Amino acid sequence: MTIGIIGGTSLIGTNLGDFSEEETETEYGKSYLLIGDDVVFIPRHGRDRRIPPHRINHRANIKALDIRGISRIIGVNSVGSLKLELKPDSLLIPDDYIAPWNIPTFHDNEIVHITPSLNEGLRQSIIRAARELDIPVITRGVYFQTTGPRLETRAEINLMKNFADLVGMSLASEATLAQELGIEYAGICSVDNYANGVVEEELDFRRVIENASRDREDLRRLLLRLIKELK
Ligand code: HPA
Repeated sequence: MTIGIIGGTSLIGTNLGDFSEEETETEYGKSYLLIGDDVVFIPRHGRDRRIPPHRINHRANIKALDIRGISRIIGVNSVGSLKLELKPDSLLIPDDYIAPWNIPTFHDNEIVHITPSLNEGLRQSIIRAARELDIPVITRGVYFQTTGPRLETRAEINLMKNFADLVGMSLASEATLAQELGIEYAGICSVDNYANGVVEEELDFRRVIENASRDREDLRRLLLRLIKELK
């Protein structure tokens, strides 16, 4: 059983092996996939990394993995930290999310209400693999999803930090859609910056991208181990 990985900014430059490219047509639109021996990888921002967060076709991406028979997805998500003690460079495996707005769904023509959660078994597999490799990961945290592409105001961050630990633009949409299709989903969050106003320093998204694109050898090792273990 092959696993699916959806990665964004934080996986830029991460070498995960040899892949062949494929474009999969789904009833929701096209998805660009990289097919490896034991993993199907979707670069969230597309082949040319130009799809902005609010225009990512999450439905096409999740459906394309479903069509390929993928039953487990690991999302690698770049996030901002809402807490001073949660430092940039950390890896965190979230255990819940908040996304009250703009939630995509596959259920447009029938009344179906899933009860959303991140898959605990898959979360534990990630945590176990990290422990075995001696890679420090924070094992809990709540992810707050915004639409993007703009960052958040200081007032928004002040609100969010009472209820969540991380802010990002993709995990909740992917997790919800995966769950609607019965696919297990868990995330590895790469903390790439402090969210706006958490520290005095002015937040500049170019810096966020720079940070997210740096070589993360620990993340690469963790993903390679998970691909081997979960295939
Ligand atoms: N806000 C929203 N999304 C993000 C951030 C942020 O500060 N950093 C990385 N993704």
